[in-house]
Amino acid sequence: MEKILRFPHKFLWGAATASYQVEGGIENNDWAKAAREGRVPVCGQACDHYNRYETDFDIAQKLGHNVHRISLEWSRIEPKEGEFDNDAIEHYKKVVNSLKRRGLTPFITLWHFTLPEWLSEKGGFENRKVVFYFDRYCSYVLDKFKNGYDEVFWVTINEPLVFAGNGYMQGKWAPFKTRKSFAFLKVIKNLIKAHKAVYNSAKKINSSFTVGIVKNNMYFHAVGINPFSKFSASFLSWFWNRRYLNAIYPKMDFIGINYYMHKEFGGASRYEKSDFGWDIYPEGIYHVLMEADQYGKPIYITENGLADKADTRREKFIVDHLREIHRAIEDGARINGYMHWSLLDNYEWAEGFKMRFGLVEIDFVTQERKIRPSAYRFKDICESNSLKI
Ligand code: FCB
Repeated sequence: MEKILRFPHKFLWGAATASYQVEGGIENNDWAKAAREGRVPVCGQACDHYNRYETDFDIAQKLGHNVHRISLEWSRIEPKEGEFDNDAIEHYKKVVNSLKRRGLTPFITLWHFTLPEWLSEKGGFENRKVVFYFDRYCSYVLDKFKNGYDEVFWVTINEPLVFAGNGYMQGKWAPFKTRKSFAFLKVIKNLIKAHKAVYNSAKKINSSFTVGIVKNNMYFHAVGINPFSKFSASFLSWFWNRRYLNAIYPKMDFIGINYYMHKEFGGASRYEKSDFGWDIYPEGIYHVLMEADQYGKPIYITENGLADKADTRREKFIVDHLREIHRAIEDGARINGYMHWSLLDNYEWAEGFKMRFGLVEIDFVTQERKIRPSAYRFKDICESNSLKI
């Protein structure tokens, strides 16, 4: 028998992107520099979203979305230290207005991984002064948006632990440092301070700004009775999922959760995988959301998705995750929205353009947009605010 799972009134449904991954034409940041040095794939024109945002937002609207997450490119707004480019702000205002006109609530991430070249030359998030630089940049932006943009949800930082982990432990992302640099914990400390400083500044600029964080949280679990497995799972839940949130609490009006992964200790189970090789483990999102709900703040799922070029697993992935999200809501979690990663196929950091996360397929040669079949199933869910199973 068909069952209908209804989502709360005014639930937000949509998708997410980030500046460097979709805009194209960004040459003045640490990732573009790393690409010139041959350390990561070249991003180039990406989806040319900088020029095609109207087309892309038409697609989002047509797909029944009512929220959309973007990020601002720091290197466009502050191309040289202390020199701000008002044209870049005017551009982003047009982008945000264009979302508003289509009834898409804007979620704006102030910083999503990429640093202006001048700042990376100064040591980026290792430099103690980064808190000052970050606060100055964010305050400049927030001041420009202080009138007429009350519906915006502001995100200070995207995935602080992922940034620190890939950039200062694993050496996979800019600035390519490993644990030997001993900078990992220092960077996290600065990311905590940076968030808090901007939260305070935002409230001074406009007390009705809504400001939160986006955390990538994972489900760490142990199978069997091995005490070391149990210890590892609970230590990592604290270290990876809660430590940062504990440190910034209560300076967050909402929590954005990005869920992609689980980590199982002590088991030999095999799960279906995405093109990226990541396990597909929908149940994990339930646990991650229940854990985040302990903070008593509104929660938005700000990213969840998979690399699936052939689009054979995406529809089931979305449905299975939404069932778990609905279960968390029934169990009392304050979840107010779901943003799929991503609207468009895009530049996936160290992997370049191979990993296809889009509801919309992009031909990176012709820039043709093609809506994937799974996007239409998601559209039904968005428009009916419910999931038929
Ligand atoms: C998240 C990032 C996002 C994207 C997805 C796949 O960690 O926030 O930019 O790369 O993973």
